[in-house]
Amino acid sequence: MASLAIQGMQWGDEGKGKVTDFYASKAQVVVRSQGGNNAGHTIVHHGKKFALRLIPSGIFSPEVVNILADGTVINPSAFIEELEGLEKEGIASYHLLVSSRAQVLMPYHIDLDHASELVLAKSKIGTTGRGIGPCYADKAARLNIRMGDLLEKEYLKERLDEILPLKNKELASYGLKTYTKEELLDYLMKASEKIAPLITDTSSYLNKALAEGKKVLFEGAQGAMLCLDHGTYPYVTSSSPLASGIPLECGIPNEAVKDVLGIMKAYTTRVGEGPFPSEIQSDLAQLIRDRGHEYGTVTKRPRRIGWLDAAQLKYVKMISGVKYIALMLLDVLSCTDEIKICTGYLLDGKKIDYMPSSLAAYLRVKPVFETMPSWKEDISNIKNYADLPLNARNYISRVEELTNTQVVLISVGPDKDQTIIRKDIF
Ligand code: IMP
Repeated sequence: MASLAIQGMQWGDEGKGKVTDFYASKAQVVVRSQGGNNAGHTIVHHGKKFALRLIPSGIFSPEVVNILADGTVINPSAFIEELEGLEKEGIASYHLLVSSRAQVLMPYHIDLDHASELVLAKSKIGTTGRGIGPCYADKAARLNIRMGDLLEKEYLKERLDEILPLKNKELASYGLKTYTKEELLDYLMKASEKIAPLITDTSSYLNKALAEGKKVLFEGAQGAMLCLDHGTYPYVTSSSPLASGIPLECGIPNEAVKDVLGIMKAYTTRVGEGPFPSEIQSDLAQLIRDRGHEYGTVTKRPRRIGWLDAAQLKYVKMISGVKYIALMLLDVLSCTDEIKICTGYLLDGKKIDYMPSSLAAYLRVKPVFETMPSWKEDISNIKNYADLPLNARNYISRVEELTNTQVVLISVGPDKDQTIIRKDIF
């Protein structure tokens, strides 16, 4: 089986879109396995910038089959808007399949997301406000509509009869507007005119494609530190961005996910609230933010900026089995006088080299940094590893040492050709 899983190693926004786009041209199938339009992948296609939220990055290659798999949550109107946006830009011939098992993200999920953030006030999560948490909560509570239900109008009506009284009670408890069955049915039926032809059993499709030896790329969304189980809970998303979740989220055997390519920035960013021990507090944060265009693709929020955190990366490798690393945005660091790497923490005065599993302890840690010399040269046009400044190569070697993982791809700019390949892995 020829497959590759792309997985963010930090708090999302690591540059997975560019890497997925890079490998998508070699794939026959590109799969998005979890999350919804909280994700935002920026892809430069023929010199034009595209922001994909739900739709897999293989959409730009007409011969690639793109899949939104079982574990995703799909806001029908956001999905249609994204699709029509692409069509307007001439991306009209594509193959796109949507799992009949994927969850429908309803308008009230968005209302509830905003309401719970408001009530949480100072301790809000800083969500993307796209209704992701409430939709996954309803999935677990068995209160959702699934994409396949859009093909079964009578069953859909029954489901709305079952679900809506509960949801309306919840909405009313927040003082929010309630919904009628008719308006939701009308909304879903209109959406299904466009989406219905794409809905299918994607698990069966994928298993067949894998059995036929097709090359499958699993496009990651968010990053490992936002994992519901293993991230910085409760400051996480409501699904798992780990590659180990892919088999479950796609309905395929474990062995179908062969190699995991971990994507990390040459520094660290985070959007939303939550602990961030290696966060940079000086003006350098703004300089890096501007050079790296570190503003959210979805919400436009300025991203928080920090140094690389090796303790975190080692933890992510341990829990997800990252085999190779793609190091992104290395060119951005050309603005620094020196580079720091967080190699561990001080917890209550004691040095530790691992990430504490409890948030209370993680909030108390102080970073322990080592410092390396930087480089000032513009590296954004360098095509070969050997042509990188010595200090940049030393930095990459140190990342490899600290993570015990080979860096196979280095990105020195947003365009596809601003990529240095050290090893062919797919
Ligand atoms: P939610 O996924 O909208 O519920 O947001 C929960 C947390 O995950 C917030 O801190 C968001 O900023 C973060 N988050 C969700 N999706 C992404 C993403 O694609 N990139 C970066 N952060 C994300």
